[in-house]
Amino acid sequence: MNDKSKLTVSLGEQSYPIHIGAGSFDVLRQTIADLRAARCPVALITDTRVAAAQATVLESLGFEPRERFIVPNGEGSKSIEQYSALLEWLAGNEVSRDGAIFAFGGGVVGDLAGFVAASYLRGLRFYQIPTTLLAMVDSSVGGKTGINLSSGKNLVGAFWQPEAVFIETATLGTLPEREFSAGMAEVIKYGMLCDHSLFATLEGLPKLQVDSAKLPAIIRRCCELKAEIVGADEKETASEGGRALLNLGHTFAHAIENVAGYGAYLHGEAVAIGLVCATRLALEEGCLDQNILLRVGALLERYALPQRVRENLRTEALLEAMRKDKKNIGGKLRLISMRTLGEACILEGVSETRVRGLWKSAGAV
Ligand code: NAD
Ligand code: GLY
Repeated sequence: MNDKSKLTVSLGEQSYPIHIGAGSFDVLRQTIADLRAARCPVALITDTRVAAAQATVLESLGFEPRERFIVPNGEGSKSIEQYSALLEWLAGNEVSRDGAIFAFGGGVVGDLAGFVAASYLRGLRFYQIPTTLLAMVDSSVGGKTGINLSSGKNLVGAFWQPEAVFIETATLGTLPEREFSAGMAEVIKYGMLCDHSLFATLEGLPKLQVDSAKLPAIIRRCCELKAEIVGADEKETASEGGRALLNLGHTFAHAIENVAGYGAYLHGEAVAIGLVCATRLALEEGCLDQNILLRVGALLERYALPQRVRENLRTEALLEAMRKDKKNIGGKLRLISMRTLGEACILEGVSETRVRGLWKSAGAV
């Protein structure tokens, strides 16, 4: 029987479940109870906005105040300063190697808490409890953890897989609409990179809302796609395709976030602009026709996602940020593009002249 409440990320001994739906928090409570029964220290990391918006849920999970660390909300918390403060807090609380860390929040909390878990005492068990759409469909699954440097996004981090992911879509009830839309950029990304029928489904549905009946199935589909891709190429080492394809639009997005200042654009908003740049690149390569660009634009528009940079971001500064991207090899830009809608590919050695042109089309100066 197909159990719709659970998926598995298949990574041999490191395989783990993604629990989805109303029963997922029952499994979470049992997990916490089992850790407490075994006298393992537990620590929950969240942010100020989630702590306020989800106070009742947080109470119901039973973490004592001294077991919680609350970082300021926003991208700025993926910083060396918050990372360092968290390590000191764990050490001060005498959290030992048998301890477990729970990340309760969006991608910022998940990436930061995951990196703390990966590095404190050379690694603690770690659980993801995503509360944004973006974190549910993407960041909570796959074990990429990390923080930003002023030089670039996600430049410090580790692959550190969670023990389990607990997705309860009811927590989205308090998520601001702009954040929901930012998550939709990553949902649309999956359709573009590996599932054209998901893309077509999104086109055919009225604008999704947090309480749309179809949303849980869409989230589940994205998790399924991510689990499959991560299971096949956990550390992004495949020479062809593989996990790198999940970065469709992201080299552009990370450059925007870095140059505009972390937090000026939501990650998903920057991804939306990046998706348009990546589509335009595929168009210039002769892989797609103009109609696909229009379809991508129309779907992003439905979720009020930006397709051009808002203010005068400098092309040369954006290009400089792209040169620091982790995917580049031998000093050459490596970008994710598309062969066709629903099939992404890697483009090696894309010329800077061409990238300048893409930035100009996206409104950079
Ligand atoms: P986020 O974590 O900043 O959350 C967005 C905002 O929503 C925050 O202000 C948060 O306080 C608030 N919030 C979260 N849940 C809420 C809820 N239920 N109710 C009310 N408010 C809520 O941002 P995000 O979009 O979730 O994640 C973006 C981050 O994820 C970026 O740093 C990005 O680089 C990272 N990311 C990582 C991966 C990965 O594979 N590790 C993948 C994609 C993105
Ligand atoms: N979000 C990109 C990845 O997980 O690889």
